[in-house]
Amino acid sequence: MTLQKHAVAKALADRINALLEREEYCADGLAQMLEYPPNGEMGDVALPCFKLAKAFRRPPAAIAEAICDGFSISGISKIESVNGYLNFFIDRTYAANKIIGEVLERKEKYGASNEGEGKTVVLDYSSPNVAKPFHIGHLGTTVIGHSLKKLFAFNGYNCVGINYLGDWGTQFGKLIVAYRKYGSKEMVEKDGIDALVALYVRFHKEAEADPKLEDEARAEFTKLEHGDAENTALWKWFIDISIAEYQKTYRQLGIDFDSWKGESFYSDKMPAVVEELKEKKLMKIDDGASIIDLSAYNMPPCLILKRDGSSLYPTRDIAAALYRKNHYHFDRAVYVTSAGQCLHFAQWFKVVELMGYDWAKDLIHVPYGTVSLNGEKLATRTGNVILLRDLFDLAIEKVSAVINEKNPDLENKEQIAEDVGVGAVVFYYLSNNRMKDINFVMDDALSFDGNTGPYVQYTYARTCSVLSKSGCGEDDIKKFASAKADISDDEYEVIKALSMYPERVASALAEFEPSLITRYILDLATAYNRFYHNEKILTAENEEQKNFRIALTAATKYVLGSAFELICLKKTEKI
Ligand code: ARG
Repeated sequence: MTLQKHAVAKALADRINALLEREEYCADGLAQMLEYPPNGEMGDVALPCFKLAKAFRRPPAAIAEAICDGFSISGISKIESVNGYLNFFIDRTYAANKIIGEVLERKEKYGASNEGEGKTVVLDYSSPNVAKPFHIGHLGTTVIGHSLKKLFAFNGYNCVGINYLGDWGTQFGKLIVAYRKYGSKEMVEKDGIDALVALYVRFHKEAEADPKLEDEARAEFTKLEHGDAENTALWKWFIDISIAEYQKTYRQLGIDFDSWKGESFYSDKMPAVVEELKEKKLMKIDDGASIIDLSAYNMPPCLILKRDGSSLYPTRDIAAALYRKNHYHFDRAVYVTSAGQCLHFAQWFKVVELMGYDWAKDLIHVPYGTVSLNGEKLATRTGNVILLRDLFDLAIEKVSAVINEKNPDLENKEQIAEDVGVGAVVFYYLSNNRMKDINFVMDDALSFDGNTGPYVQYTYARTCSVLSKSGCGEDDIKKFASAKADISDDEYEVIKALSMYPERVASALAEFEPSLITRYILDLATAYNRFYHNEKILTAENEEQKNFRIALTAATKYVLGSAFELICLKKTEKI
C-alpha cells in the first residue's frame, strides 16, 4: 500500500464505521476503494463515494458531505467533498519525511517485499533452439522472463532460472548429415553458429530435390539416440558452439541462468511418463499415434508419441515438469513463450492435472505478443529476421558515435556504449504491454529521443553526478531526510512518484507485466528532470533547501537503480 492510501485508510474506515454504527469496513478493504486522482488539484487520494451507496443508502454527494463534516486525520492537511468524491490532501512535509526517510533507509531494497519467503519459483525462459539463429523473436521470452525472475526475487522468492535449450530432435540428424556432406571442421570453427545455420539451410534446399536426405537424417538421429560415439561428439560440439554464441548476448543483457538442462536431458525420462499415462488409462491410440483425448475440455488431443514411437514436445514438457517438481519442489513454475504456444501449454497443463497432480494449478504460462518485421512475419528461411547480435551491434555503434562526438574523453566508454545501446533496445521492447503484437521498427528501437532507454539512463547518471558533486556521503545524506516546511510542486511530484514504487512493483508481479516498471521509470525520470530544471540543487537559496534536494536526488537514484535492475537495464553512473 502506498503512503497516501496508508495515511487515509484506517482513519477513514473508523470514521465510516462510526457513522454507520457498525463494523462494516476494515482499512485494507477501504484502501482497495481509494483512487489516485488524475491531478494534484484533486488531492493525493480520493474516495468515490458511490462505492458506499449500498451501505449508506444515500446518494454519493450526501455520503461525501457527511463523512467530510468535521473530519480530520493527522498527516492529512485538507479533506474536501466534491461531487460525491472525498479528496484527501497529504501534508507534504509529512509525506516527504516518511517517503524519503524510508527510501534512504532501505536504499535499493525500497519497494521489496517478503511475500515469497520460503517459496520457490522456477522460470523457464529464453530457451532457444540450438543451431538456429538467436533473433529479435527471442528478445521477448529472454527479457520478460529475466525481468519476472528479478521481480520474484525482489519479493523474496527463491528463484531458479532455466534455459530449456532446444537441443534434441531430428534437426540434429539433419545437421550431422549436412556437416558431413557440405561442411568442415575449419568452417565451423571459423564461423561458429553462422556455419551451423548455413548448413541447416543448405540441408533443406538439397532435401527438396533429394528427399532421401530426410531418411538419412532420421537414421543419424536414431544413431544419436542410441549413443553413437561419433554423432554424440558432433552433437555436443554443435551445442557448445551455440551456447558460446548465446552467452555473448546474455552477457550484454546481464542475464545468467541457474540451469541449462535442455530437452535432451529428458530424453531418458520420457518412457516413465508414457508408462504412467498408460497406467492411469489416459492414453489412447489414434491412427497409430498415442494421444490424450481432451475433447471434454474443448481442446484438440495432446500428442504423446508419434506413429514411429518417438516422443513429442508436450511429452518432454510433462517429463520436465515432473522432474522439476521433484528436484526443486517449486511453489510455482512459470513458462514464458510467445502467445503462439498458448494451446500447447493449456493442453499439457491439463494432462498433468488429469494425471492427478494437484500442483498442476501452480503451472503458469506467461505468453507475449508476436514480433513482426516490416509488417511481415519473422522467417529465417526468407531472411526476414534481425539477429539480436546484429541489432545490439548497431545500437552500440550508434551510441559510440554520440559519445565520441559529445564526450570523447569519457572513461570506460566502450562498456558504457554497450550498456546504453543494449539498454535502448531492451527499454523499447519492454515499453509495451507484453500481449501487444509488435511490429519491430529498427529506427524506433535505436531512437534516443523522448521516452527511451538512453533518456532514463542519462537521468540516472544525472543523479549520480549531482550526488558526487555534492561531496556528501551516504550517511550525511540520510540525515537530510527530515524535510523542510515548504515543499514545491516540482519537489512534491518526485516524492509522489517515489511513493508509487512499491505498488507498481506489486502490480508488475501480480500481472507478470514488466512494462509497468518501464512506465514507472519514465514517470519518475520525468518528474525528477522537471524538478532538476526548475529548482537549484547545489546552489539552492539556503542549506536546508540544498540538503533536502540532495536527499531527494539520492532517493531518486536508489529507486531508479532498483527499477533498472528489475528490467535488465544497466545502471550507468556516467554517460
Ligand atoms: N525451444 C522452444 C522454442 O524455441 C521454447 C521452449 C519453451 N519452454 C518450454 N518448456 N516448452 O519454441
